[in-house]
Amino acid sequence: MIDLLLGLQWGDEGKGKIVDVLANDYDIVARFQGGPNAGHTLIFDGNKHVLHTIPSGIFHKNAINIVGNGVVIDPVIFKNELDNLSPYNIDFKSKLLISRKAHVILPTHRILDAASEKMKGKEKIGSTLKGIGPTYMDKTGRNGFRIGDLDFENWKEKYASLTQKHLKMIDFYGVDITFDLETLEAEFFEAIDVLKSLTFIDSEEYINDAMSKGKTILAEGAQGSLLDIDFGTYPFVTSSNTTAAGACTGLGVAPNKIGEVFGIFKAYTTRVGSGPFPTELFDEDGKTMAKVGHEFGATTGRPRRCGWLDLVALKYAVQINGVTQLMMMKGDVLSGFKTLKVCTSYNYKGNEIKHFPYNIEEENTSVNYTDIKGWQEDLTQLTTSEQLPKNLNDYVSFVEDFVGVPVKIVSVGPDRRQTIEV
Ligand code: GDP
Ligand code: IMO
Ligand code: MG
Repeated sequence: MIDLLLGLQWGDEGKGKIVDVLANDYDIVARFQGGPNAGHTLIFDGNKHVLHTIPSGIFHKNAINIVGNGVVIDPVIFKNELDNLSPYNIDFKSKLLISRKAHVILPTHRILDAASEKMKGKEKIGSTLKGIGPTYMDKTGRNGFRIGDLDFENWKEKYASLTQKHLKMIDFYGVDITFDLETLEAEFFEAIDVLKSLTFIDSEEYINDAMSKGKTILAEGAQGSLLDIDFGTYPFVTSSNTTAAGACTGLGVAPNKIGEVFGIFKAYTTRVGSGPFPTELFDEDGKTMAKVGHEFGATTGRPRRCGWLDLVALKYAVQINGVTQLMMMKGDVLSGFKTLKVCTSYNYKGNEIKHFPYNIEEENTSVNYTDIKGWQEDLTQLTTSEQLPKNLNDYVSFVEDFVGVPVKIVSVGPDRRQTIEV
């Protein structure tokens, strides 16, 4: 069986932390979509690690980590990640396997991303500028460059012809953008050599074989459901399916092989980049969340926008993913608020609605809140569910009743150990 761990909001829910916590119980941890737009933070033994492409099970000796076919890989960022992990003496050749069908982010994909954003001006997506959109465009446009291509002698020709096409497209955008392709290519080719020293596999075969032998697999989502290319706040989304179905196509597993679907959410909401965010706060409360929660992007360092928990959006995400268990993160950040608010319906084009509508815009959507009493206690030293404050338990019960799924983990700090089973 394969269990999935998925972000239910706009990303950065704390997926990296929880995958690291759960990885001990799994034989394999696999990423299935996204790429280095992700920044997954792990903290243990006083050290902090941010992973972008490498699955968050990498620190567990017994787990095999797989970068699945649905992922897009930037060799340069991948090499940096490997370099950062060098003190850990991990045997990457046997512990980190890469799907031949994963697509490669070329230097010109990143430039195209920047050119596209520049052309959009104020309407920009707020992309991480990692080349995600253009790489998935080449994938669905059937022009992509895949990891498996590196096994063929003519891969440099394929690379060159795709790059030539990109250069024409960059010209077409007609925006002022400067880049030094020679330097970018030099680091790219160097990184490709490192990548080629790893093990490439037919990951769908490997994973299905492992499942038939009773091995346990955890699929690690990137981004969040509200950034899903189909179900997110389009066009302010990423370019992959971040929801449960993405794990099937991104790893080659059948839907009936899915076991638990862990849905992870922050006790409040954050978003980086542009796009609608109905519960966004611009007042002191929002600033407190940002400050206490250290809400800065793990990939880009940009400040994250903050707001109250949106239960309408959460219920939508739970439904689309078939979530079986919830995990509530960053409860500690809300300590000290006298009253907490949760969004329980929207006013949309003059009507009260309880579902996530087609196009949320400031002009057509406002939110209705329910007040819940806050908790004042510091949670960060707590270790058992019995110690959790009553008001936090009431908050959790309210969420469970609203979305219809139990909360099984409450996280009270960024460290691996600050994780409470409830
Ligand atoms: P991911 O992309 O979903 O893996 O999440 P990120 O790593 O981008 O962002 C989550 C941030 O919150 C990181 O800085 C984590 O170290 C931190 N974090 C995770 N869980 C908790 C928690 O329960 N409390 C606090 N205070 N921080 C947390
Ligand atoms: P993790 O896995 C938060 C956002 C970007 C932008 C939009 C499109 O760490 O949760 P892209 O570079 O994908 O074209 O950007 O999606 N975004 C994320 N926001 N967490 C992420 O990943 C994100 N990956 C992309 O900010 O708004
Ligand atoms: Mg992140």
